[in-house]
Amino acid sequence: SSHVSSKPSKVVVCRDLGPDVMPILTERKDLEVVLWPEDRACEREWLLKNIKGAAGVLVMITDIVNEEFLETAGPNLRVVSTMSVGYEHVDLKQIAKRGLRLGYTPAVLTDAVADISIMLALMAGRNVNETMAIVREGQWPKFTWSPFAMCGPQISTTAHSPSRTIGFLGFGRISQATLSRAVSFGVTDCIYHSNPSSPPKLERDQAILKQHQPQLKSLRSVDLDTLARESDVVIVLAPGGEKTKHIINEEFLRKMKKHAVLVNAARGTLVDSDALAKALREKWIWGAGLDVIEGEPNISADHPLLKEPRCNIVPHIGSATFETRLGMATLAADNVVGGILGDKMPAELDL
Ligand code: DGY
Repeated sequence: SSHVSSKPSKVVVCRDLGPDVMPILTERKDLEVVLWPEDRACEREWLLKNIKGAAGVLVMITDIVNEEFLETAGPNLRVVSTMSVGYEHVDLKQIAKRGLRLGYTPAVLTDAVADISIMLALMAGRNVNETMAIVREGQWPKFTWSPFAMCGPQISTTAHSPSRTIGFLGFGRISQATLSRAVSFGVTDCIYHSNPSSPPKLERDQAILKQHQPQLKSLRSVDLDTLARESDVVIVLAPGGEKTKHIINEEFLRKMKKHAVLVNAARGTLVDSDALAKALREKWIWGAGLDVIEGEPNISADHPLLKEPRCNIVPHIGSATFETRLGMATLAADNVVGGILGDKMPAELDL
């Protein structure tokens, strides 16, 4: 027979992707799946032991893919597939140097993260953390309805405030999808600050502006100073890593409007937590909505941001809808298969 039997390729999977997605890997005869069996972040020791000789590894943002990882995996390794759009946990230089391929999950989570960005902006403006605590603690009876109690700034435009500026730090897919949502609230102006080393995208911006007319009056790329000073809502949606570390610092926060809110649905490292806690305590800004905090998940109850009633915090759940996580897991599985077979990967990062 012409049939050549070869050993199945090993693929290490750092989290169980569930009954709808695991079969993409487990039903293939050409793959041997090694799965971290527990429902928590994969232990480093287990990972390093099991990736030896693997052709592909499917990782989460909690798994650090560095030189040690790649060296340990050895020369059979062809692909790393992360179930995330972010890849700060992956050493790209090492991946490129070794001629490896990297799969990630862009696009599928754009809408879920745009949704939560709007949610956090509304929560921050409308004092959700503070006011829900009143209800939860049984204090509602003390707060009879009164004309201006518990008010916050309105995100949508009104007859009295006919213009609103939304500002984005980073202006990729997720920011653009968030802008679409904000436009339906009547936001009139959009400014953004994005990677200063990438060329301005004038044609793209013209098209986005046109798409949202007549509601949206202007769309401009600005410097950080202008972003801080002119935005009613600042939404942070840029990659993490060293280059963007603490871009939102004391200087930025001091320039923001007193009624403005800050949202971070990207990476905790972009925002200096101590500066933000101070800004909230001293009321330089109105409030904050955070899906991410530097140092997560090790955020204990005595973290300075948890002491600020105007800080609305959720634990990195931006992409956590059934639909989106299914999409991300499927894409991550398809990516690792494509990479191992040397085929097209549905979402491969250009290195
Ligand atoms: C990502 O995909 O990078 C998110 O932070 C996790 O969903």
